Amino acid sequence: MVPLKRRKVVPSHTGSTGTGLEAPNRFPQIVLFLLERKMGASRRAFLSQLGREKGFQVEEVFSDRVTHVVSENNSGDEVRVWLDSKTGGRGRTPAHLLDISWYTESMSAARPVEILDRHKLQEQQMNKAEVVTFSVPVYACQRRTTLDNHNTILTDALSLLADSAELSEDEGRGVAFRRATAVLKVLPKQVMDVTQLRRLPCLGEHSLRVIKDILEDGASTEVESTKQSERYKALKVLTGIFGVGVKTADRWIREGICDIQQLQTSGQTLNRAQRAGLEHYHNINQPVTRSEADAIGEIVDKAVASVLPGAQMTLIGGFRRGKLTGHDVDFLITHPEEGREVGLMPKVVSWLESKGFLLYEKTTRNSYLESKDGPSRPSSNMDRFERCFSIFKLSEEEKGGAQQTDSVSQNHSGESSHPVSGPEAGQKQWRAVRVDLVVSPISQFAFALLGWTGSKLFERELRRWAGHEKAMSLSSHALYDNNQRRYLRATSEEEIFAHLGLEFIPPSERNA
Ligand code: UTP
Ligand code: MN
Repeated sequence: MVPLKRRKVVPSHTGSTGTGLEAPNRFPQIVLFLLERKMGASRRAFLSQLGREKGFQVEEVFSDRVTHVVSENNSGDEVRVWLDSKTGGRGRTPAHLLDISWYTESMSAARPVEILDRHKLQEQQMNKAEVVTFSVPVYACQRRTTLDNHNTILTDALSLLADSAELSEDEGRGVAFRRATAVLKVLPKQVMDVTQLRRLPCLGEHSLRVIKDILEDGASTEVESTKQSERYKALKVLTGIFGVGVKTADRWIREGICDIQQLQTSGQTLNRAQRAGLEHYHNINQPVTRSEADAIGEIVDKAVASVLPGAQMTLIGGFRRGKLTGHDVDFLITHPEEGREVGLMPKVVSWLESKGFLLYEKTTRNSYLESKDGPSRPSSNMDRFERCFSIFKLSEEEKGGAQQTDSVSQNHSGESSHPVSGPEAGQKQWRAVRVDLVVSPISQFAFALLGWTGSKLFERELRRWAGHEKAMSLSSHALYDNNQRRYLRATSEEEIFAHLGLEFIPPSERNA
């Protein structure tokens, strides 16, 4: 399936330059296109005009109508990569890829000369049987993305550029790099050559350039210089503080605050979340392990069971997708009887607080109201569940036997080289962990489960698929059919995929 935007019909250019020098179209079966790359704009314009004067159709813009692509000093592979970037993975153009010699000879003959081997651009043969040209569906929600990734060097590089774009509040560029990254994640083998990527969607010129640099030179200068840039490093550190977003980090950098120490001595006024974030900075930036997540799960389970018997708790987020570590732990809570979940969160939070499990919490109330006319945009994408952002105090004792095998938690259990003073200094018997709790009514549970399992890109792609391909609006609360003008109910994730006309993808394969 090709996204709507790409399906736009390319206006058919006659190639007329309005100079009045064109001869009538003498060879209607032949549509030529001259590649500007390496030829240069003026030589291309001159040669195109020459062709038109001799009665050839020479196009200004590449389109599906083109039958002969002519280039100078380009290899077949270079032309192919360029063409694929234009066709956006719609498949290979059947056009001939020809050297300029064919064109000049045809000009001299005033007719298209026979295409001989020496006219044809050679595309790399690379042991034909062994070269895999990969092919994948366009939307990430149509693909099975496991945690196995055969191209981590490439995906790490593109993820870094996505990070950097997001930290510069360039959402469009960020999404483009995330999509490119996600495509590489599903490839069954290591990429050896860019030509293998020909048929793939979502790889724009920029991403392809980065990939090519890495495959050919071992590194991308753009990625390396971004990684080293002071601004990128400062934004990463400051937004790593819980409660600090890009805007705040950016303002601080402009005021000369670039690291934790400078922030601590700056006298900046911090809000409650940021104070907690700063205090537990080191712990919060240590990956949470699966055994830590399970230990917290047991605590939350106990809390839920004691304040509302019958209520159920599910591990969501990255851990539900099978990730071994996470930046936080996410839980979804519901009750099988609609309405019984009302008022549950404050009770759970009080229970946890009374037992000394919470270092910080902020609860937001449920503000979701189903409108008869369907969800309004763009708030349809925002979650309005009752939600608690918290920082858990997880003691070694609660972790039980887990710490024996848990090298990460052992490493930071006695942190001392760390600049943050206070509870984190010295020998301590606990660590701080970010925990998100979400409460949903049972009628919205399947949507909440799907929406909170992620990955973020998988969710974004599900919503894009719903909107562009199915005229539906999907959120973590509901699915609305804009044509039928009604909500489509579901009690399981499988039903939601079915409503969307998608094959069911289990959580472990949503790691896009
Ligand atoms: P996370 O940010 O926790 O990501 O969001 P993650 O996949 O668990 O990975 P970690 O934690 O970095 O290891 C989990 C899911 O919850 C959704 C996101 O879309 C993601 O799919 N989410 C998160 C929301 O829907 N709304 C939010 O406000 C936050
Ligand atoms: Mn998470």
